[in-house]
Amino acid sequence: MPAIPTFPTLRHEIAGISVGDLARAFGTPTYVYDAAKILERVEDLRPFDVIRYAQKACSSLAILDLVRRQGVVVDAVSAGEIRRALAAGYKAGGQNSEIVYTADIFDREVLDLVIQHNIHVNCGSPDMIDQLGERAPGRNITLRINPGFGHGHSQKTNTGGEQSKHGIWHAQLDDCLRRADRHGLMISGIHMHIGSGTDLEHLAQVCGSLEKTVLAVGRSVTNISAGGGLPIPYNAGQTYVDLPEYFRLWDATRKRLEEKLGHKLTLEIEPGRYLVAESGYLVSEIRAIKQMGDNTFYLLDAGFNNLARPILYGAYHPMSIVPKDGAKERPTSDVVVGGPLCESGDIFTQEEGGFVCKRTLPVASIGEFLVLERAGAYGFVMSSNYNSKPLAAEVLIQNGKAELIRERQKFEDIIRGERIPSPR
Ligand code: LLP
Repeated sequence: MPAIPTFPTLRHEIAGISVGDLARAFGTPTYVYDAAKILERVEDLRPFDVIRYAQKACSSLAILDLVRRQGVVVDAVSAGEIRRALAAGYKAGGQNSEIVYTADIFDREVLDLVIQHNIHVNCGSPDMIDQLGERAPGRNITLRINPGFGHGHSQKTNTGGEQSKHGIWHAQLDDCLRRADRHGLMISGIHMHIGSGTDLEHLAQVCGSLEKTVLAVGRSVTNISAGGGLPIPYNAGQTYVDLPEYFRLWDATRKRLEEKLGHKLTLEIEPGRYLVAESGYLVSEIRAIKQMGDNTFYLLDAGFNNLARPILYGAYHPMSIVPKDGAKERPTSDVVVGGPLCESGDIFTQEEGGFVCKRTLPVASIGEFLVLERAGAYGFVMSSNYNSKPLAAEVLIQNGKAELIRERQKFEDIIRGERIPSPR
Protein backbone atom coordinates (compact mmCIF):
# COMPACT_ATOMS: atom_id res chain seq x y z
CA MET A 1 0.00 0.00 0.00
CA PRO A 2 1.36 3.47 -0.81
CA ALA A 3 2.66 5.58 2.09
CA ILE A 4 0.22 8.24 3.28
CA PRO A 5 1.27 11.40 1.45
CA THR A 6 2.04 14.81 2.92
CA PHE A 7 0.41 17.90 1.53
CA PRO A 8 3.02 20.66 1.24
CA THR A 9 1.61 24.10 0.41
CA LEU A 10 4.86 25.38 -1.09
CA ARG A 11 6.02 23.65 -4.25
CA HIS A 12 9.04 24.23 -6.46
CA GLU A 13 8.98 21.32 -8.84
CA ILE A 14 6.86 18.51 -10.26
CA ALA A 15 8.70 15.23 -10.85
CA GLY A 16 12.02 17.06 -10.67
CA ILE A 17 11.14 19.85 -13.12
CA SER A 18 10.71 23.44 -11.97
CA VAL A 19 7.04 24.49 -12.05
CA GLY A 20 8.12 27.95 -13.21
CA ASP A 21 9.92 26.40 -16.18
CA LEU A 22 6.90 24.25 -17.02
CA ALA A 23 4.56 27.24 -16.85
CA ARG A 24 6.85 29.35 -19.01
CA ALA A 25 7.32 26.60 -21.57
CA PHE A 26 3.69 25.47 -21.87
CA GLY A 27 1.66 28.41 -20.53
CA THR A 28 -1.13 28.24 -17.96
CA PRO A 29 -3.52 26.70 -17.13
CA THR A 30 -1.84 23.41 -17.94
CA TYR A 31 -2.37 19.89 -16.67
CA VAL A 32 0.95 18.22 -15.84
CA TYR A 33 1.10 14.45 -15.22
CA ASP A 34 3.89 12.56 -13.51
CA ALA A 35 4.10 9.21 -15.34
CA ALA A 36 6.04 7.57 -12.49
CA LYS A 37 3.06 7.97 -10.14
CA ILE A 38 0.76 6.18 -12.58
CA LEU A 39 3.24 3.33 -12.98
CA GLU A 40 3.55 2.94 -9.20
CA ARG A 41 -0.22 2.70 -8.81
CA VAL A 42 -0.39 0.08 -11.55
CA GLU A 43 2.15 -2.02 -9.61
CA ASP A 44 -0.02 -1.80 -6.45
CA LEU A 45 -2.79 -3.63 -8.32
CA ARG A 46 -0.71 -6.45 -9.81
CA PRO A 47 -2.25 -9.11 -7.53
CA PHE A 48 -5.42 -8.85 -9.63
CA ASP A 49 -5.41 -10.97 -12.80
CA VAL A 50 -6.66 -8.10 -14.93
CA ILE A 51 -6.30 -4.36 -14.34
CA ARG A 52 -8.87 -2.60 -16.49
CA TYR A 53 -8.42 1.16 -16.55
CA ALA A 54 -11.68 3.14 -16.40
CA GLN A 55 -10.47 5.71 -18.91
CA LYS A 56 -13.31 8.09 -18.08
CA ALA A 57 -10.96 9.38 -15.34
CA CYS A 58 -8.36 10.66 -17.82
CA SER A 59 -8.58 9.48 -21.39
CA SER A 60 -5.81 11.39 -23.17
CA LEU A 61 -4.11 9.18 -25.74
CA ALA A 62 -0.69 9.48 -24.10
CA ILE A 63 -2.10 8.25 -20.78
CA LEU A 64 -3.87 5.34 -22.48
CA ASP A 65 -0.65 4.47 -24.29
CA LEU A 66 1.29 4.62 -21.02
CA VAL A 67 -0.97 2.19 -19.19
CA ARG A 68 -1.36 -0.07 -22.23
CA ARG A 69 2.39 -0.61 -22.26
CA GLN A 70 2.05 -1.90 -18.69
CA GLY A 71 -0.42 -4.58 -19.78
CA VAL A 72 -3.37 -2.64 -18.38
CA VAL A 73 -6.54 -3.16 -20.45
CA VAL A 74 -9.29 -0.59 -20.77
CA ASP A 75 -12.93 0.18 -20.14
CA ALA A 76 -14.91 2.42 -22.49
CA VAL A 77 -18.27 4.05 -21.79
CA SER A 78 -18.99 5.66 -25.16
CA ALA A 79 -18.22 5.46 -28.85
CA GLY A 80 -15.65 8.19 -28.29
CA GLU A 81 -13.88 6.17 -25.61
CA ILE A 82 -13.88 3.06 -27.82
CA ARG A 83 -12.32 5.11 -30.62
CA ARG A 84 -9.75 6.53 -28.19
CA ALA A 85 -8.80 3.05 -27.03
CA LEU A 86 -8.37 1.94 -30.65
CA ALA A 87 -6.36 5.08 -31.45
CA ALA A 88 -4.07 4.35 -28.50
CA GLY A 89 -3.31 0.87 -29.82
CA TYR A 90 -5.74 -1.34 -27.91
CA LYS A 91 -7.05 -4.28 -29.92
CA ALA A 92 -10.74 -4.89 -30.32
CA GLY A 93 -12.35 -8.33 -30.17
CA GLY A 94 -10.60 -11.57 -29.33
CA GLN A 95 -10.50 -13.60 -26.17
CA ASN A 96 -8.79 -11.09 -23.91
CA SER A 97 -11.27 -8.27 -24.41
CA GLU A 98 -8.69 -5.50 -24.29
CA ILE A 99 -11.59 -3.07 -24.65
CA VAL A 100 -14.88 -3.59 -22.81
CA TYR A 101 -17.86 -1.33 -23.33
CA THR A 102 -19.63 -0.70 -19.99
CA ALA A 103 -22.76 1.42 -19.97
CA ASP A 104 -26.48 1.53 -19.31
CA ILE A 105 -27.45 2.25 -22.92
CA PHE A 106 -26.27 1.72 -26.46
CA ASP A 107 -26.65 4.80 -28.55
CA ARG A 108 -26.90 3.93 -32.23
CA GLU A 109 -23.28 4.76 -32.99
CA VAL A 110 -21.92 2.65 -30.16
CA LEU A 111 -24.09 -0.36 -31.02
CA ASP A 112 -22.71 -0.28 -34.57
CA LEU A 113 -19.16 0.01 -33.23
CA VAL A 114 -19.33 -2.88 -30.75
CA ILE A 115 -20.80 -5.08 -33.47
CA GLN A 116 -18.31 -4.01 -36.13
CA HIS A 117 -15.26 -4.44 -33.87
CA ASN A 118 -16.56 -7.38 -31.83
CA ILE A 119 -16.13 -5.48 -28.58
CA HIS A 120 -17.13 -7.24 -25.37
CA VAL A 121 -20.13 -5.59 -23.70
CA ASN A 122 -20.91 -5.20 -20.03
CA CYS A 123 -24.68 -4.66 -20.04
CA GLY A 124 -26.09 -2.28 -17.44
CA SER A 125 -29.72 -2.48 -18.62
CA PRO A 126 -31.90 -5.42 -19.67
CA ASP A 127 -32.75 -3.68 -22.95
CA MET A 128 -29.09 -3.81 -23.96
CA ILE A 129 -29.23 -7.61 -23.92
CA ASP A 130 -32.04 -7.61 -26.51
CA GLN A 131 -30.50 -4.85 -28.61
CA LEU A 132 -27.17 -6.67 -28.83
CA GLY A 133 -28.71 -10.12 -29.13
CA GLU A 134 -30.88 -9.14 -32.08
CA ARG A 135 -27.85 -7.99 -34.07
CA ALA A 136 -25.09 -10.26 -32.76
CA PRO A 137 -26.52 -13.49 -31.37
CA GLY A 138 -24.19 -16.03 -29.82
CA ARG A 139 -21.77 -13.59 -28.22
CA ASN A 140 -20.40 -13.61 -24.68
CA ILE A 141 -21.56 -10.75 -22.47
CA THR A 142 -21.05 -9.48 -18.94
CA LEU A 143 -23.90 -8.30 -16.75
CA ARG A 144 -23.44 -5.34 -14.46
CA ILE A 145 -25.61 -5.95 -11.43
CA ASN A 146 -26.92 -3.28 -9.07
CA PRO A 147 -27.01 -5.18 -5.78
CA GLY A 148 -29.59 -2.85 -4.23
CA PHE A 149 -27.12 -0.78 -2.17
CA GLY A 150 -24.26 1.55 -2.96
CA HIS A 151 -21.70 3.93 -1.61
CA GLY A 152 -19.72 6.93 -2.93
CA HIS A 153 -17.75 9.98 -1.82
CA SER A 154 -20.80 12.03 -2.78
CA GLN A 155 -24.46 11.10 -3.46
CA LYS A 156 -23.62 11.89 -7.10
CA THR A 157 -20.99 9.15 -7.27
CA ASN A 158 -23.03 6.44 -5.54
CA THR A 159 -23.95 3.96 -8.25
CA GLY A 160 -25.88 1.33 -6.31
CA GLY A 161 -29.37 1.23 -4.77
CA GLU A 162 -32.70 2.19 -6.22
CA GLN A 163 -31.81 5.90 -6.54
CA SER A 164 -29.17 4.96 -9.07
CA LYS A 165 -29.75 4.43 -12.78
CA HIS A 166 -26.81 2.06 -13.02
CA GLY A 167 -26.74 -1.66 -13.56
CA ILE A 168 -29.34 -4.39 -13.78
CA TRP A 169 -31.52 -4.52 -10.70
CA HIS A 170 -30.55 -7.67 -8.76
CA ALA A 171 -34.12 -8.98 -8.68
CA GLN A 172 -34.34 -8.83 -12.49
CA LEU A 173 -31.55 -11.35 -13.00
CA ASP A 174 -33.83 -14.25 -14.02
CA ASP A 175 -35.54 -12.11 -16.61
CA CYS A 176 -32.11 -11.16 -17.99
CA LEU A 177 -31.03 -14.80 -18.16
CA ARG A 178 -34.13 -15.56 -20.22
CA ARG A 179 -33.42 -12.61 -22.54
CA ALA A 180 -29.83 -13.82 -23.02
CA ASP A 181 -31.03 -17.38 -23.73
CA ARG A 182 -33.47 -16.12 -26.31
CA HIS A 183 -30.58 -14.68 -28.30
CA GLY A 184 -28.05 -17.40 -27.55
CA LEU A 185 -25.92 -14.91 -25.60
CA MET A 186 -23.60 -16.47 -23.06
CA ILE A 187 -23.06 -14.73 -19.72
CA SER A 188 -19.34 -14.99 -19.19
CA GLY A 189 -18.87 -12.20 -16.69
CA ILE A 190 -20.50 -10.61 -13.67
CA HIS A 191 -19.57 -7.08 -12.67
CA MET A 192 -20.46 -4.89 -9.71
CA HIS A 193 -19.43 -1.29 -9.16
CA ILE A 194 -21.30 0.36 -6.32
CA GLY A 195 -19.66 3.77 -6.40
CA SER A 196 -16.60 5.94 -6.60
CA GLY A 197 -14.92 6.25 -3.20
CA THR A 198 -15.95 2.98 -1.56
CA ASP A 199 -14.78 1.28 1.67
CA LEU A 200 -14.11 -2.19 3.05
CA GLU A 201 -17.32 -2.46 4.99
CA HIS A 202 -19.39 -2.07 1.84
CA LEU A 203 -17.01 -4.29 -0.06
CA ALA A 204 -17.76 -7.35 2.06
CA GLN A 205 -21.43 -6.85 1.19
CA VAL A 206 -20.62 -6.48 -2.50
CA CYS A 207 -18.59 -9.69 -2.51
CA GLY A 208 -21.48 -11.58 -0.90
CA SER A 209 -23.94 -10.24 -3.42
CA LEU A 210 -21.67 -10.97 -6.37
CA GLU A 211 -21.17 -14.52 -5.16
CA LYS A 212 -24.91 -15.10 -5.00
CA THR A 213 -25.35 -13.66 -8.48
CA VAL A 214 -22.64 -15.81 -10.04
CA LEU A 215 -24.13 -18.95 -8.52
CA ALA A 216 -27.54 -18.01 -9.89
CA VAL A 217 -26.07 -17.54 -13.38
CA GLY A 218 -24.03 -20.72 -13.23
CA ARG A 219 -21.14 -22.30 -15.06
CA SER A 220 -20.95 -19.97 -18.05
CA VAL A 221 -19.24 -17.36 -15.82
CA THR A 222 -15.47 -17.20 -16.23
CA ASN A 223 -14.75 -13.63 -15.16
CA ILE A 224 -15.72 -11.54 -12.16
CA SER A 225 -15.11 -7.80 -11.92
CA ALA A 226 -14.76 -5.83 -8.73
CA GLY A 227 -15.50 -2.58 -10.57
CA GLY A 228 -13.63 0.58 -9.64
CA GLY A 229 -14.10 2.95 -6.76
CA LEU A 230 -10.76 2.73 -4.94
CA PRO A 231 -10.36 5.99 -3.03
CA ILE A 232 -7.21 8.09 -2.75
CA PRO A 233 -6.42 10.58 0.02
CA TYR A 234 -7.15 14.17 -1.06
CA ASN A 235 -6.28 15.66 2.32
CA ALA A 236 -4.50 14.84 5.55
CA GLY A 237 -7.62 13.31 7.12
CA GLN A 238 -7.98 10.62 4.46
CA THR A 239 -6.18 7.33 3.76
CA TYR A 240 -5.98 4.66 1.10
CA VAL A 241 -8.19 1.63 1.37
CA ASP A 242 -6.32 -1.37 2.82
CA LEU A 243 -5.40 -2.89 -0.55
CA PRO A 244 -4.14 -6.27 0.68
CA GLU A 245 -7.39 -6.72 2.57
CA TYR A 246 -9.37 -5.48 -0.43
CA PHE A 247 -7.67 -8.09 -2.61
CA ARG A 248 -8.04 -10.79 0.04
CA LEU A 249 -11.82 -10.32 0.20
CA TRP A 250 -12.16 -10.53 -3.58
CA ASP A 251 -9.73 -13.40 -3.93
CA ALA A 252 -11.55 -15.40 -1.26
CA THR A 253 -14.81 -14.80 -3.12
CA ARG A 254 -13.21 -15.94 -6.35
CA LYS A 255 -11.82 -19.09 -4.73
CA ARG A 256 -15.15 -20.06 -3.17
CA LEU A 257 -16.79 -19.63 -6.54
CA GLU A 258 -14.10 -21.61 -8.34
CA GLU A 259 -14.71 -24.48 -6.01
CA LYS A 260 -18.46 -24.40 -6.52
CA LEU A 261 -18.30 -23.92 -10.29
CA GLY A 262 -15.44 -26.34 -10.81
CA HIS A 263 -13.38 -24.06 -13.06
CA LYS A 264 -11.01 -21.07 -12.92
CA LEU A 265 -12.28 -17.49 -12.76
CA THR A 266 -10.34 -14.38 -13.69
CA LEU A 267 -10.55 -11.57 -11.17
CA GLU A 268 -10.64 -8.11 -12.62
CA ILE A 269 -10.45 -4.63 -11.08
CA GLU A 270 -11.57 -1.48 -12.88
CA PRO A 271 -10.09 1.62 -11.29
CA GLY A 272 -10.04 5.11 -12.72
CA ARG A 273 -9.20 7.51 -9.92
CA TYR A 274 -6.69 5.25 -8.19
CA LEU A 275 -4.41 5.04 -11.21
CA VAL A 276 -4.30 8.69 -12.24
CA ALA A 277 -5.56 11.10 -9.56
CA GLU A 278 -2.25 11.63 -7.82
CA SER A 279 -0.25 12.01 -11.01
CA GLY A 280 -2.09 15.15 -12.13
CA TYR A 281 -1.33 18.80 -11.31
CA LEU A 282 -3.26 21.74 -12.70
CA VAL A 283 -0.78 24.61 -12.92
CA SER A 284 -2.36 28.06 -12.91
CA GLU A 285 -1.25 31.65 -12.44
CA ILE A 286 -2.61 34.05 -9.83
CA ARG A 287 -3.93 36.99 -11.83
CA ALA A 288 -5.74 39.08 -9.18
CA ILE A 289 -5.77 39.33 -5.42
CA LYS A 290 -8.59 41.24 -3.84
CA GLN A 291 -10.17 41.90 -0.50
CA MET A 292 -13.94 41.50 -0.20
CA GLY A 293 -14.84 42.44 3.36
CA ASP A 294 -13.16 39.80 5.51
CA ASN A 295 -12.22 37.56 2.60
CA THR A 296 -9.03 37.66 0.57
CA PHE A 297 -9.59 36.20 -2.89
CA TYR A 298 -6.83 34.73 -5.06
CA LEU A 299 -8.20 34.67 -8.59
CA LEU A 300 -6.54 32.26 -11.02
CA ASP A 301 -6.50 31.85 -14.76
CA ALA A 302 -7.99 28.35 -14.21
CA GLY A 303 -11.66 27.91 -13.34
CA PHE A 304 -14.32 25.24 -13.15
CA ASN A 305 -14.06 25.07 -16.92
CA ASN A 306 -10.72 23.34 -16.20
CA LEU A 307 -11.46 21.50 -12.95
CA ALA A 308 -15.13 20.98 -12.14
CA ARG A 309 -14.88 18.69 -9.10
CA PRO A 310 -15.11 21.45 -6.46
CA ILE A 311 -18.24 23.07 -7.95
CA LEU A 312 -19.85 19.70 -8.71
CA TYR A 313 -19.17 17.80 -5.50
CA GLY A 314 -17.59 20.32 -3.12
CA ALA A 315 -14.48 18.21 -3.72
CA TYR A 316 -11.30 19.16 -1.89
CA HIS A 317 -8.09 19.47 -3.89
CA PRO A 318 -4.80 20.22 -2.16
CA MET A 319 -3.18 23.45 -3.39
CA SER A 320 0.33 24.80 -3.36
CA ILE A 321 2.00 28.08 -4.15
CA VAL A 322 5.14 28.25 -6.27
CA PRO A 323 7.28 31.03 -4.76
CA LYS A 324 8.99 33.11 -7.45
CA ASP A 325 11.91 33.87 -5.13
CA GLY A 326 12.47 30.17 -4.43
CA ALA A 327 11.60 30.71 -0.73
CA LYS A 328 11.47 27.55 1.41
CA GLU A 329 9.17 29.21 3.92
CA ARG A 330 6.50 31.87 3.76
CA PRO A 331 4.00 33.27 6.25
CA THR A 332 0.51 31.94 5.60
CA SER A 333 -2.93 33.49 5.35
CA ASP A 334 -6.46 32.16 4.97
CA VAL A 335 -7.74 32.82 1.48
CA VAL A 336 -10.56 31.97 -0.90
CA VAL A 337 -9.34 30.63 -4.25
CA GLY A 338 -11.42 31.21 -7.36
CA GLY A 339 -11.23 31.26 -11.14
CA PRO A 340 -11.95 33.68 -13.97
CA LEU A 341 -15.50 32.66 -14.91
CA CYS A 342 -18.55 34.92 -14.78
CA GLU A 343 -20.16 32.88 -12.06
CA SER A 344 -20.04 33.09 -8.25
CA GLY A 345 -19.71 29.31 -8.06
CA ASP A 346 -16.30 29.45 -9.74
CA ILE A 347 -14.54 28.82 -6.44
CA PHE A 348 -12.05 26.03 -5.78
CA THR A 349 -12.40 26.33 -2.00
CA GLN A 350 -16.00 25.28 -1.50
CA GLU A 351 -17.87 22.54 0.28
CA GLU A 352 -20.75 20.45 -1.09
CA GLY A 353 -23.77 22.75 -1.32
CA GLY A 354 -21.66 25.63 -2.62
CA PHE A 355 -20.51 27.02 0.73
CA VAL A 356 -17.37 29.09 0.21
CA CYS A 357 -14.57 28.34 2.66
CA LYS A 358 -11.02 29.49 3.24
CA ARG A 359 -7.74 27.69 2.77
CA THR A 360 -4.54 28.34 4.68
CA LEU A 361 -1.88 28.97 2.03
CA PRO A 362 1.49 30.70 1.88
CA VAL A 363 1.07 34.39 1.15
CA ALA A 364 1.42 34.87 -2.61
CA SER A 365 1.55 37.70 -5.08
CA ILE A 366 0.24 38.35 -8.58
CA GLY A 367 2.12 36.42 -11.23
CA GLU A 368 3.01 33.54 -8.94
CA PHE A 369 1.79 30.08 -9.84
CA LEU A 370 -0.76 28.09 -7.85
CA VAL A 371 -0.96 24.34 -8.35
CA LEU A 372 -4.22 22.45 -7.87
CA GLU A 373 -3.01 19.00 -6.92
CA ARG A 374 -4.29 15.42 -7.18
CA ALA A 375 -6.26 16.56 -10.18
CA GLY A 376 -5.39 13.76 -12.61
CA ALA A 377 -8.71 11.93 -12.27
CA TYR A 378 -11.91 13.58 -13.49
CA GLY A 379 -9.93 16.77 -14.09
CA PHE A 380 -9.20 17.44 -17.74
CA VAL A 381 -11.93 15.04 -18.92
CA MET A 382 -14.67 17.04 -17.23
CA SER A 383 -13.47 20.39 -18.53
CA SER A 384 -15.55 22.54 -20.87
CA ASN A 385 -15.50 25.54 -23.15
CA TYR A 386 -17.72 27.58 -20.84
CA ASN A 387 -17.15 31.30 -21.36
CA SER A 388 -15.44 30.30 -24.63
CA LYS A 389 -12.32 29.33 -22.72
CA PRO A 390 -10.00 26.93 -24.54
CA LEU A 391 -9.33 23.48 -23.08
CA ALA A 392 -5.99 23.50 -21.26
CA ALA A 393 -2.75 22.02 -22.54
CA GLU A 394 -1.56 18.69 -21.11
CA VAL A 395 2.04 17.71 -20.40
CA LEU A 396 3.47 14.35 -19.40
CA ILE A 397 6.71 14.08 -17.44
CA GLN A 398 8.54 10.83 -17.93
CA ASN A 399 12.17 10.02 -17.13
CA GLY A 400 12.88 13.65 -16.26
CA LYS A 401 11.50 14.96 -19.55
CA ALA A 402 8.35 17.05 -19.98
CA GLU A 403 6.45 16.57 -23.23
CA LEU A 404 3.35 18.25 -24.57
CA ILE A 405 0.68 15.56 -24.99
CA ARG A 406 -2.17 17.90 -25.93
CA GLU A 407 -1.97 21.39 -27.35
CA ARG A 408 -3.95 24.12 -25.72
CA GLN A 409 -7.11 24.61 -27.76
CA LYS A 410 -7.13 27.54 -30.14
CA PHE A 411 -10.06 29.87 -30.74
CA GLU A 412 -10.52 28.24 -34.17
CA ASP A 413 -10.99 24.87 -32.43
CA ILE A 414 -13.71 26.32 -30.22
CA ILE A 415 -15.83 27.65 -33.10
CA ARG A 416 -15.14 24.75 -35.47
CA GLY A 417 -18.39 23.50 -36.98
CA GLU A 418 -20.39 26.60 -36.09
CA ARG A 419 -22.30 28.38 -38.84
CA ILE A 420 -24.01 31.75 -39.16
CA PRO A 421 -27.15 31.29 -41.35
CA SER A 422 -27.16 33.52 -44.40
CA PRO A 423 -29.72 36.39 -44.19
CA ARG A 424 -33.14 35.57 -45.63
N1 LLP B 1 -16.36 1.35 -13.32
C1 LLP B 1 -17.57 1.92 -13.50
C2 LLP B 1 -18.66 1.12 -14.03
C3 LLP B 1 -17.77 3.28 -13.15
O1 LLP B 1 -18.97 3.82 -13.29
C4 LLP B 1 -16.69 4.03 -12.65
C5 LLP B 1 -16.85 5.45 -12.32
C6 LLP B 1 -15.44 3.40 -12.51
C7 LLP B 1 -15.31 2.06 -12.85
C8 LLP B 1 -14.23 4.12 -12.00
O2 LLP B 1 -14.44 4.59 -10.70
P1 LLP B 1 -13.18 5.14 -9.88
O3 LLP B 1 -12.22 4.01 -9.72
O4 LLP B 1 -12.58 6.25 -10.67
O5 LLP B 1 -13.76 5.62 -8.60
N2 LLP B 1 -16.60 12.43 -11.62
C9 LLP B 1 -16.59 11.83 -10.30
C10 LLP B 1 -16.42 10.32 -10.37
C11 LLP B 1 -17.46 9.64 -11.23
C12 LLP B 1 -17.22 8.16 -11.36
C13 LLP B 1 -18.08 7.56 -12.42
N3 LLP B 1 -17.89 6.14 -12.59
C14 LLP B 1 -15.50 12.48 -9.45
O6 LLP B 1 -14.86 13.41 -9.94
O7 LLP B 1 -15.32 12.11 -8.31
